[in-house]
Amino acid sequence: MRPAELHLTAAGARKGSLILVNRDHPLQGELFPDLVPLQGGWPDQHLDRTAARMLDAAIRAVQGTGQILPVSGWRSQDEQQAIWNSSLTDHGPDFTARYVARPGCSEHQTGLAVDLALCAEHIDFIRPEFPYDGVCGTFRKVAARYGFIQRYTEEKQDKTGIAAEPWHFRYVGVPHAAILTEAGLCLEEYPAFLRQAPRVVRLENGRRVQVSYLPWTGTETRRPAPGACWQLSGTNEGGFILTVWEGEA
Ligand code: DAL
Ligand code: ZN
Repeated sequence: MRPAELHLTAAGARKGSLILVNRDHPLQGELFPDLVPLQGGWPDQHLDRTAARMLDAAIRAVQGTGQILPVSGWRSQDEQQAIWNSSLTDHGPDFTARYVARPGCSEHQTGLAVDLALCAEHIDFIRPEFPYDGVCGTFRKVAARYGFIQRYTEEKQDKTGIAAEPWHFRYVGVPHAAILTEAGLCLEEYPAFLRQAPRVVRLENGRRVQVSYLPWTGTETRRPAPGACWQLSGTNEGGFILTVWEGEA
């Protein structure tokens, strides 16, 4: 059951489904994600339990089973280091800086990011093909409805620090994917956007969800819970995002 109060702590500000992980915001401490094996992984891929369930539902919704392959889900620090090292050897520093996050700065390490490929005889592990048409294009159209965003786009390259990656999707949850997509924002821009004002989004089922930003003040605090159905995530950049589903639990 959800606790009856919000508990804001320094450790809590660094973890949760909405954390920002990039070159300026490395992971701080172990996350211990709740990982499950991914259906149809390539092979043995794991993802956060909720993200895996939603990815599976999205792929089934577009009848993409067997065509859309999860190539890379959760990575340990050692795996990210090995990918970084082998990319440096195979492709050099410029390519590596564009397409591989430094170990400790990859959102794959959260279990909330997944690289997808269109099934093919040869799949490039670092830059898999995930086209804009066919079943992959249909997946893109429904992705936000299942809580996923394409994390690295051409337009936001200066903010994300990573080149366009049409294959890399990040699970943020349905209300946040809706707000980010509607406002045309990348995750780097989200905390500042919410700091301006709380946002309200109406889900496809008609339910209203309110999303607001709480700064981490440096002092552990407890507040009464804002209703029956809410979620608090750290941002890993100095605050929290509070999501409140209005109405009955
Ligand atoms: N390819 C993305 C940026 C990563 O390595 O996490
Ligand atoms: Zn990726």
